[in-house]
Amino acid sequence: MIGMFSWEILESACKTCNRCRLAENRTNVVVGGGNRKAKILLIGEGPGEKEDLSGVPFVGPAGQLLDKMLACIDLSRNDVYIANVVKCRPPGNRDPEPDEKNCCIEYLRYQFALIKPQIIVCLGRIAAQSIIDSKFRITKEHGIWYKKKNCWMIATYHPSALLRDAAKKRTAFEDLKEIKKKIDELGIISEDNE
Ligand code: URA
Repeated sequence: MIGMFSWEILESACKTCNRCRLAENRTNVVVGGGNRKAKILLIGEGPGEKEDLSGVPFVGPAGQLLDKMLACIDLSRNDVYIANVVKCRPPGNRDPEPDEKNCCIEYLRYQFALIKPQIIVCLGRIAAQSIIDSKFRITKEHGIWYKKKNCWMIATYHPSALLRDAAKKRTAFEDLKEIKKKIDELGIISEDNE
């Protein structure tokens, strides 16, 4: 368990973490990125190759598409904080194993407590199953709002899934419009990054 409550302690706990096998081959721990004062938390699956090399989330091809998706609803990285279910790269970009997710979820809970987001957007099945419901079916349940712990949660397709299957982009765009509607409804306005 992490004792004190600050970004500095979280970062140093993550960077020295050896709780699971993903620590063995990592170049960098990808703690998160964007605006720590944002009211919108995006949650992906785990770092890929470019993220492992840079220590920054969503900087590869999926990240470029994510930036375009955000721009569609007038958001930039300064309006959101981005984290992942696991903070170290699974080898060959395989899905994270249950024990790896369990080891890492405490850090994400800690980030949730620091950010206090009003909206969480799960990017893809892995995030939605970790955050919303362990049986979440992304094809059926994307675009639906859930409210937990005073926070609105929704899932949409992971940008990597959209890169593999462009036919899903139209559906993802509908989800993005839902998210924009909620942002306007809640009157969320961005605060400057610290
Ligand atoms: N895919 C993810 O799920 N997260 C990243 O940070 C990059 C790619």
